Amino acid sequence: MTGFGTGSLQLTDEERAMADGSDGEAVAAAMDLLVRYGEILGAERLVETDNVCGATIFGPRHSRVLGTSDPVALFSEFALNADHPVDVPPVRAHSCQLIGPRDRELWELQGLSEETNKEITVSEDYLASRGVSILSTCTPYQVGNVPARGEHCAWMESSAVPYINSVLGARTNTEGRESAAAAMLTGRIPYAGLHLPENRLATHLVRLDVPVESVFDWSVLGYFLGWHLRDEIPVIEGIAGPVDPVAIKQFGAAANSSGDVELYHIPGVTAEAASVEQALGGREPVDELRFTRADVDRVVEHLNSTATGDEIDFVMIGCPHAALSQVREVARLLEGRRIDPGVTFWVFTPSALREVARRNGWVEIIERAGGRVMADTCPAIGQFVPPGARRFATDSAKQVHYLPPIMGIEGRFGDTEACVRAALTGRWEA
Ligand code: F3S
Repeated sequence: MTGFGTGSLQLTDEERAMADGSDGEAVAAAMDLLVRYGEILGAERLVETDNVCGATIFGPRHSRVLGTSDPVALFSEFALNADHPVDVPPVRAHSCQLIGPRDRELWELQGLSEETNKEITVSEDYLASRGVSILSTCTPYQVGNVPARGEHCAWMESSAVPYINSVLGARTNTEGRESAAAAMLTGRIPYAGLHLPENRLATHLVRLDVPVESVFDWSVLGYFLGWHLRDEIPVIEGIAGPVDPVAIKQFGAAANSSGDVELYHIPGVTAEAASVEQALGGREPVDELRFTRADVDRVVEHLNSTATGDEIDFVMIGCPHAALSQVREVARLLEGRRIDPGVTFWVFTPSALREVARRNGWVEIIERAGGRVMADTCPAIGQFVPPGARRFATDSAKQVHYLPPIMGIEGRFGDTEACVRAALTGRWEA
């Protein structure tokens, strides 16, 4: 290994060669970025990764800043921090695009112009031509990207990171767009943070004074933990038996919205700790938290606090992107019914799952009721709501946390049935 830069980060000979330009200018820029980033993190070395999930599709928001919609220039500026456009070679690591700004089929529903759609398509096609899989979802683990336990990954996205760290036992920090892009090109990421086993032990013990069973319960618990723990690592005691995969998906998303919980342990459920003691690594917890009925009430009240009334004109399901079972559930609840004409009803799911839902007839059932099943994007990331929407309902603690401040809309939070009921009646009754 050879030293590089002013810090203590050491590069292997192969990494040094990449930094010196053996694989071209873009890879050298990526290595330079990783070295600077690693030194800030206090990493002593990089670690190989062959699983990177990033977000490097660009559209008008970026081209306006740069004054060009050339995909090479946009990638160089916003993904690589390069000081001039550099064309990128095929990615070295298996890489995929997380959620993007628009639905490739239903972009008109988002209110996008044809020109905007074209620009995003060019950017997406550029990425695809470099070998990035265009999964376009915040839940790659639902559509084929399931990292192995212990695998070093470089993923972005606040709901995906806790899922693969905790449920799957893979190892990632929450990467940014630039570090993920650099990891795609080099197959490396700083060996720091949650890549190190000693940083993965629980710090806080959580005891449950109320049953936590439904998807709704898990969402509320997640939000509560993020509120209180910020970026600490909880171990939750007292969960017997398997947990609904949808519940665990919503739980992690909520915990990493109100706070920064990137990893949690639930003995018997998550990958790394079979017992509370093992999760804590034999240490005493820094603190203990109890989750009580009063906490449930406080969280639910908070998540409904932007709403000044009960009329609903928009319902959003699928944050994080809905599992097939969720799409099926929505279709079951809507079958033979009509959504209130004053309500826009959108379900978001990965495009691969939308295709399966189509084959099963669920998309048709939802459409017959007046709803739409969308893919590749979501209102918070794409920054869109139906025209004139003032108050929405969702079963996602994460979406109701983010959408009101992003889009200036009021939000209601409840379970899926409550949201479908609101869609049918135009009123919140939970
Ligand atoms: Fe996914 Fe958008 Fe929610 S990225 S987790 S659907 S805010």
